[in-house]
Amino acid sequence: MNNHIEKFNQLANHYDTPKNIYMAKLVVDAIRRYKVPKSPNKAADLGCGTGLIGLNLLEDFDSMLLVDGASNMLDIVNQKIKKQETKSNADTLQLNMEDELILPEKMDTLILSLVLHHISDHEQILTDLYNNLNVGGQLFIIEMAPSPHNHHGVDYNKLSIQLSDIGFQDIQFEVIYDADNENDDQTASRFILTARK
Ligand SMILES: C[S@@+](CC[C@H](N)C(=O)[O-])C[C@H]1O[C@@H](n2cnc3c(N)ncnc32)[C@H](O)[C@@H]1O
Repeated sequence: MNNHIEKFNQLANHYDTPKNIYMAKLVVDAIRRYKVPKSPNKAADLGCGTGLIGLNLLEDFDSMLLVDGASNMLDIVNQKIKKQETKSNADTLQLNMEDELILPEKMDTLILSLVLHHISDHEQILTDLYNNLNVGGQLFIIEMAPSPHNHHGVDYNKLSIQLSDIGFQDIQFEVIYDADNENDDQTASRFILTARK
């Protein structure tokens, strides 16, 4: 197992902090702003963690597949799904996306929030994302922006060129959390990027 997945197994019970919940809410709001109408619209939240994004978007999609490599993260997602009173349109899948990213079916929406910086081969995973989308499907990538304090950040311009080379279109980008504006030197700025197949 990759070291970072093992790290997330250990982090699972402590992941739902007020800050992570607040950041996920910004992501959910941004996905709602950029989501294009599509019916049916089957979504997957890849590297879903405790489901702070996917589980808060269940009403916006026909189905939501929550995928993660860390079984402890998925245990928490499954507990949250069980607690829901209405019939759930959510399902979970344990998968290390660096080994092989083949979903049970092609999706209309793929969400990859704060996962790309953990993946060593960006070109491979971006190609896999493209192959797992239906034509007209939509990709959302949420990442930390590079900064002098944050070497994990992902360069938006480089990422959009890679996506465009793979065949993605309609690439749009927005900063959803500006650390300078918030006087926050602990957290990197975050952006959302959306693209269509
Ligand atoms: C920083 S958390 C983000 C969780 C959630 N997407 C969010 O934005 O709150 C990264 C998640 O990606 C998962 N992850 C990282 N690399 C992965 C891989 N290669 N395959 C599957 N999951 C992976 C981790 O287990 C972890 O749950």
